[in-house]
Amino acid sequence: MIADSFGRVHDYLRISLTDNCNFRCFYCMPEEDYDFTPASRLMQPDEILRLAKIFLEHGVKKIRLTGGEPLVRKDAAEIISRLGELPVELVITTNGTRIAELLPALITAGIKSINISLDTLQPEKFMLITRRDVFHQVRSNIELLLQHKITVKINMVVMKGLNDNEINDFIEWTRHNPIQIRFIEFMPFSGNKWTSNKMFSLDEILATVGKDYTILPVKAEPHDTAKGFMIPGHQGSFAIISTMTAPFCSTCNRMRLTADGKLKNCLFSDGETDLLTALRNGEDVLPLIKASIWSKKKELGGQLGKHFQQLDAGSINNRSMITIGG
Ligand code: GTP
Ligand code: 5AD
Ligand code: SF4
Repeated sequence: MIADSFGRVHDYLRISLTDNCNFRCFYCMPEEDYDFTPASRLMQPDEILRLAKIFLEHGVKKIRLTGGEPLVRKDAAEIISRLGELPVELVITTNGTRIAELLPALITAGIKSINISLDTLQPEKFMLITRRDVFHQVRSNIELLLQHKITVKINMVVMKGLNDNEINDFIEWTRHNPIQIRFIEFMPFSGNKWTSNKMFSLDEILATVGKDYTILPVKAEPHDTAKGFMIPGHQGSFAIISTMTAPFCSTCNRMRLTADGKLKNCLFSDGETDLLTALRNGEDVLPLIKASIWSKKKELGGQLGKHFQQLDAGSINNRSMITIGG
């Protein structure tokens, strides 16, 4: 069992496969020259499998593959297939562009749920945010997943003045579609120019939806990051990930492995533990994992502590989002 000193058992591992992405979203990737990690410093399929097995032997029940964009990695299908053979719930967060090509591998690996990042339903705004003209491709890939009865959650990062006016368009999408829209409070990471006035809060999102719809709360699962809601008569539902105004750290069960093999004990941790180098040197990585969680994990929000709302993004000593994977 991997636990921290606050009694939280860690049974959910997020593995970033790459810090590369085929999109260029400003809120995720730093604007200044950004160099992707060279392949020699990325975890290779065998190394990912060896590390994953160690985590599984010590209580991990769920693995989420993240990026950058996990499916741009050339060996993504191989990694997914091999992880799919392990006794673990395997899920993915993706921008949705490569779903059609990889669908057979995803189905064979037993993946039943996919989270898709989609911040707008307007093709021109999609282009503005991602700098790629592939809105319709992403939309048709979402349809494809639904046709194959794969659970789809849509991640929409709400940014004031950019897409907050689309909240109820997303809600309308849930009327006849069995999808969950997760509205996410914009979070600060190195290089993403976060300021508190660009954030659209849990309360503001609820007030916006409440203007046009009746909202009923849904009972949360023990480790949910998202507060769930339903609207009578809608096939789908919505949820809000309120890291900034209502953090959910008391039930945190998550660890993160970056694409270059560093263990982060919190999304906002400043320190990290280099598991890949230790593995390559033939060292026992289990004590390193346990120490990273037991002795180093903070109770609330890593380096942010309780100061979630009084931040200056420039002063944060963290990776950029694209190198963490969310
Ligand atoms: P589920 O496993 O379906 O609950 O997905 P998830 O919400 O954990 O993962 P996803 O990759 O879809 O991330 C959605 C949003 O939640 C992103 O903005 C993540 O950064 C954020 N998020 C995911 N895990 C955590 C966490 O442990 N803490 C915080 N504060 N935010 C998180
Ligand atoms: N704040 C909140 N969520 C973010 N994501 C990326 N950057 C941010 C940010 N600054 C989301 C993406 C993706 C998930 C892994 O994290 O939309 O769906
Ligand atoms: Fe866990 Fe850190 Fe997220 Fe809080 S901010 S829920 S401690 S990963």
